[in-house]
Amino acid sequence: MAERKVIAIVGATGAQGGGLVRAIVTDPSGGFAARVLTRDPNGAKAKEFAKQGAEIVAADVDNPESLRKAFEGAYGAFCVTFFWAHFSPEKEMAEAKAMAEAAKAAGLRHVIWSTLEDTRKWVPVTDNRMPTLQGKYKVPHFDAKGESNHFFTDAGVPTTFLLTSFYWDNFISFGMGPKKSPDGKLLLTLPMADKKLPGIAAEDIGRCAYGIFKRGNEFIGKTVAISGENLTGAQMAATFSEVLGKDVQYNGVPHQVYREFGFPGADDLGNMFQFKCDFEDYFCGARSPEFSRGLNPQLQNFKTWLQRNKNAIAVEEAAAG
Ligand SMILES: NC(=O)c1ccc[n+]([C@@H]2O[C@H](COP(=O)([O-])OP(=O)(O)OC[C@H]3O[C@@H](n4cnc5c(N)ncnc54)[C@H](OP(=O)(O)O)[C@@H]3O)[C@@H](O)[C@H]2O)c1
Repeated sequence: MAERKVIAIVGATGAQGGGLVRAIVTDPSGGFAARVLTRDPNGAKAKEFAKQGAEIVAADVDNPESLRKAFEGAYGAFCVTFFWAHFSPEKEMAEAKAMAEAAKAAGLRHVIWSTLEDTRKWVPVTDNRMPTLQGKYKVPHFDAKGESNHFFTDAGVPTTFLLTSFYWDNFISFGMGPKKSPDGKLLLTLPMADKKLPGIAAEDIGRCAYGIFKRGNEFIGKTVAISGENLTGAQMAATFSEVLGKDVQYNGVPHQVYREFGFPGADDLGNMFQFKCDFEDYFCGARSPEFSRGLNPQLQNFKTWLQRNKNAIAVEEAAAG
C-alpha cells in the first residue's frame, strides 16, 4: 500500500483543524494521515483522536522550535492562528511567520493557510467610514491574517490561501444566537442591514481543506474562498423561525451601535460587519457555496446545520407568545 501523506494540523483540537482531522481519519483509504498538533497531548480530545488513528504531537505555535519538530517528515500542514485567545494582531502575525518558517524548514509540499482579507486594501486607514483600531487596523483579526500572507510567499512555501467565512457555530459558542427582547420577542441581532453574510459550519472548513489537499497541486499558489450559504439576516431569522418553531425576527442594528455593545472585540466585529456590508459584491462574489461543495460534497447549508445543532442553541428564553 502506498505510504499515506501526513498532514500536520495546527488547531487540531479546535473548530477548523478538528474538522480536518475528522475528515482524514474517517476516510482511511483517502491516502492521507492526520498529525494532531496540540499543547496538551494527554487531553481528552487528543486521546480521542489517537483512538481514531491520528498521530499526536506536542506543539505550541508560540514556540517555533516545537513547530519545526512537529512539521518534520510531513507532506503538508494546515495552519491557523487564534486571534480571540489574545486579541493581538502582532502576536497573530508572529505566529503566522513562525508557521511559514517552520513549513519552509521542514520542506513541506503543501500548506493551507487559513487567512482572511486585509480589509485595508478596501478601506485604507485614512478612510473614516469606520474607526481605525489598535493604531493601524480596520478589522484587526482580518487584517493581521491578510498581512501575514506574505510570510508564506516570501519563504517560498507552496501555499493555498484559504479565505473562510463566519461560522454559524457563533450562534452557539459566541453568544450571537437569537435573544429575547424586553417586549418578549426573539431577535437575531446582526449589523448586516439587508446584505448577505457568507456563513459556514465550522466543521465544513476542515472538510473543504481536505478537499483541497486531495486535489494535489491544483490550488497551490491560489486563493480559495469558501462558504456554506450566503444569506441576509432576515433570511437567517426566517430559517431560525422555521427550524426552532418559534418566531425569530431580524434586528439589523447600525454598525456604530454594534461597535459600542461593549463586549471584548465588539469594535473589531462592528468594523468587520461594516466591511462585509459595504463590499457585499466582492465578499459574497468571492465565496461560492457551489464551488465549496465541489471541494466538500458534505457541505451543509444553514437550514441543515441548524436542524443538526438547534438543541445546542440556548433559546430557552423564547417568548411565551
Ligand atoms: N468564529 C468565526 O466565525 C471565524 C470565522 C473565520 C475565521 N475565524 C478565525 O479562526 C481562528 C480560530 O480558529 P478555530 O476557531 O479553529 O480555533 P478554536 O476552535 O478556538 O481552537 C483553538 C485550538 O487551537 C489550539 N491552540 C490555541 N492556542 C495555541 C497555541 N499557542 N499553540 C498551539 N495550539 C494552540 C488549541 O489546542 P490545544 O489546547 O489542544 O493546544 C485549541 O483547541 C481565529 O483566528 C479566528 O479569527 C473565526
